Amino acid sequence: MFTNTINMIIRGRFCRRVIILILIFLASFYGTVLFYGDLKIPRVMRLTDLRRCPACYGVTVCPELYSNQIIPDKNDWTNMLFNAKNIYYGYTKSNRRIVLKKLAHDWEFSEFDNKLCKAWKLNKNCHPIDLLNVTGVEKKLEQLVHFNLTVPQVEPRKGLVFCPYSFGIHDFIEPALNNKKTSRNYQSDMINIWTMLSINPEPIVLQVIPKSKGWQVPAYGGVCGRLEIVAYEGQPLSVLGNIHWHRKLIIAKRLLDAAMDFTYKHDRFRFYLMDWSTDNIVVNEKDEITFVDLEDVIVLDKHISPKSDLPDWYKRYFRDDNDPANVFSIENMCKHHLSDHNIYAACHTLGGDNEPFLHPVPVDFQHWAQLSTLLRDCLKGTDRFKTVVLLQRYIAELLTKGSVVGIGSVR
Ligand SMILES: Nc1ncnc2c1ncn2[C@@H]1O[C@H](COP(=O)(O)OP(=O)(O)O)[C@@H](O)[C@H]1O
Ligand SMILES: [Mg+2]
Repeated sequence: MFTNTINMIIRGRFCRRVIILILIFLASFYGTVLFYGDLKIPRVMRLTDLRRCPACYGVTVCPELYSNQIIPDKNDWTNMLFNAKNIYYGYTKSNRRIVLKKLAHDWEFSEFDNKLCKAWKLNKNCHPIDLLNVTGVEKKLEQLVHFNLTVPQVEPRKGLVFCPYSFGIHDFIEPALNNKKTSRNYQSDMINIWTMLSINPEPIVLQVIPKSKGWQVPAYGGVCGRLEIVAYEGQPLSVLGNIHWHRKLIIAKRLLDAAMDFTYKHDRFRFYLMDWSTDNIVVNEKDEITFVDLEDVIVLDKHISPKSDLPDWYKRYFRDDNDPANVFSIENMCKHHLSDHNIYAACHTLGGDNEPFLHPVPVDFQHWAQLSTLLRDCLKGTDRFKTVVLLQRYIAELLTKGSVVGIGSVR
């Protein structure tokens, strides 16, 4: 009798909890459906936060969004409910898969918005539209990137680091400007640029080094409000640990090529990628690789005349092997005309001590001794610039010789 009563009480409590949980779930589900549901405005427009413009990324792709040319994935509603990263997937009318990126967490936007009026010395109830009347935006861009370089910030770093001298930023942003200086819309372009340099410079970087010119970055679709549209470029390296060894070698070669491109290919700038996480590198069905997260990039201006503050400018900067794997001095990178950062990072991704991409090695792969020696040289040797070329050549040779046998077993 007594145990029966206890059981009933427990069951009663348990049922009540389950019912409450179901109610909470239904409320949030229908809330989301209502919020993002098919009302008159296309669903996707609700993600843009257009009312914050010109403190936004721009409006280049808004007409396509308004006219339903870009459609978020219908199956993506769970993502919309629980999406801390603010990444959404969708399709264009022509069936091209795309990614919609807000480029920051909601709390980062709040922090930015809270500081907006103060940053421009406007009264504290200012509206973003008031930014169209502020003066000195060009100087402000220089101050911002200078601040990002010199003031040690809490991790993760926010905003673009452009170095060594900040005045080069005007040439850097040129490809991202839609209007001439004489145009009425120039001011709003510049506020857009300032916003991106403050929150996430990715849309600018994608226009400076476009995929159409062979850079290993996503095809850029445009921006609308606080939303960026890029092409879907494949699956992250982090989920491709078990693919065929031959494919792994192709990808390995392309990673080294990309490291060299970001370091050498641009006439004016070097791009040191600071976040080589295997989530940020994606691979398509042709094994082409793309670096999808261009938030944390150091842009080095090669065309400067070093003043007395840069006595070692013409020397190369080598990563000190005693540093922990993820530590690399931005200050030092910015004081030298060339650093081996990207090369080290690529070799670390392939053969470093943290879940390297080229592991496990198949037992019947007969060239590992040579390959691993080169990788070790790249990680620990004294001249990475020399080793990387040998490594590229060696993998290319393995691939062209067809000497990479089909392999299932691993070492
Ligand atoms: N263009 C793209 N193609 C394919 N997947 C992408 C693309 N952009 C982002 N992703 C996926 O979304 C994830 C998060 O995007 P990312 O730009 O790295 O944002 P975060 O700053 O949150 O890391 C990536 O790890 C990748 O899996
Ligand atoms: Mg990322």
